[in-house]
Amino acid sequence: MIIAANLKTNLTRVQTLEYVNKLEAFLTANNSSQEVLVFPATSSLNTHAGKVIVGAQNAYPTTNGAFTGETGVEQLNEFGIKTILIGHSERRHVLGETQQFIAQKFDFYKQLGFKIVYCVGEPLEIRKSGEANMMEYINAQYVGIDVHYENLIIAYEPVWAIGTGLTPTLEDIESLHAKLKEKSTAPLLYGGSVKLSNIEEVLALKSVDGVLVGGASLIVEDFSQMTAIAQNLQK
Ligand code: 13P
Repeated sequence: MIIAANLKTNLTRVQTLEYVNKLEAFLTANNSSQEVLVFPATSSLNTHAGKVIVGAQNAYPTTNGAFTGETGVEQLNEFGIKTILIGHSERRHVLGETQQFIAQKFDFYKQLGFKIVYCVGEPLEIRKSGEANMMEYINAQYVGIDVHYENLIIAYEPVWAIGTGLTPTLEDIESLHAKLKEKSTAPLLYGGSVKLSNIEEVLALKSVDGVLVGGASLIVEDFSQMTAIAQNLQK
């Protein structure tokens, strides 16, 4: 399974180095066969060789150039980064990225062969507005996205479940994932308030291929334990 940590704007470079090294040691000691991804803050990126795959939370669709405050492929290449998170709800709703820009970014990093974790998910008012509206909203997040891209992983993260402690019911996750599986056969992760106490039941769902964890991944011992739970499930 795919167990991913989105560290967001947390942990310094030194703390991230320690985090990745501890996680790597845990995976090795446990002979883990899980696909484990870690997305540190951009200034905490570093080269890493081993089982842990380090990815970028964001980058601009450029090699380099005049894009103040942004990161390009040249900077990612320095650390051998070949994995990127695109379309996260915080980029959409806090940083104002449009679907058009997100699709442009997707296409750019696809051309370079990056592994892309592409996020979709609906805000609470959309979910409350009914099933048809909700699917229309989520469908719009697939516009311009090559769902057949071989290095694609999709993450379904309901916005209202991110950082809130709230999660959809297991039945809701399963039925929504089943619908998303009809749109793309790419591995499908669930994200939104995944923690040690609920990861097992989420991972056990038929249409869940892994998880994308935010807050609960910040403690490396907890995140390591999550990879062990995935390993034990032998799904
Ligand atoms: P939380 O696990 O903190 O809810 O965050 C989920 C998330 O946004 C992962 O990308």
